[in-house]
Amino acid sequence: MKTSKLHTGFFITIEGCDGVGKTTHSFLLAESLKKKSLDVVSIREPGGTKTGELIRDLVKGKLDVTPMAELLLFQAARAELVEKIIKPALLTKKIVIADRFIDSTIAYQGYGRGIKIDNIHILNGIASDNIIPDVSILLDLPISKSLNRSKDRDQKKQRTQTRFEDESIEFHKKVLQGFRSIAKENPARWNIVNTSENKKLVAKKILNIITAKLDKTYY
Ligand code: TYD
Repeated sequence: MKTSKLHTGFFITIEGCDGVGKTTHSFLLAESLKKKSLDVVSIREPGGTKTGELIRDLVKGKLDVTPMAELLLFQAARAELVEKIIKPALLTKKIVIADRFIDSTIAYQGYGRGIKIDNIHILNGIASDNIIPDVSILLDLPISKSLNRSKDRDQKKQRTQTRFEDESIEFHKKVLQGFRSIAKENPARWNIVNTSENKKLVAKKILNIITAKLDKTYY
């Protein structure tokens, strides 16, 4: 696939199943990089733009849609985010940290829902204008633990389970297996970090991976 690297910024994606700690670790990483006086833009998918946040509410809610319609909604949110936030940030040499991106679509709609992976690659390319992350971190945790964490979090925040959290354990296992396969296929871009360990240690591991990559390709 043709990829575009027109930009001079640095693009980091944090990926993984529901409840693995992506949001926490995206935040901690952003804070650590900001302390080094780096210019960081944090985003989440779906979301980050007005339309993207509307789509986020739709796809996380109890919407009765076909897998293909769901896939296209994620891609619509992505197209907005790429044009309005990601591209301008990368073109002005910023560091972008994304809580989910193209690989979530392969894992959830491809491995999880069973849509043909080749078709998702094509749509990912169109919606993202072929922007590929410089580095991706897979936060890896057994499904039993990650689902418990996301249930605890929802209870604490008095949130109802989303349509994905409501899915069967089998669905989540397929998604995790998908993420692991994607990461193994491209070890140059991916780093797998086990999040069973304590939060500080995991944050430190992630920061070390990113700092090493930044030293090589960004400064
Ligand atoms: P999110 O709040 O990111 O999940 P969590 O914080 O629980 O990890 O919610 C986004 C949901 O959308 C999540 O369950 C994964 C799903 N998703 C897809 O199915 N496909 C996609 O392309 C993306 C970006 C997300």
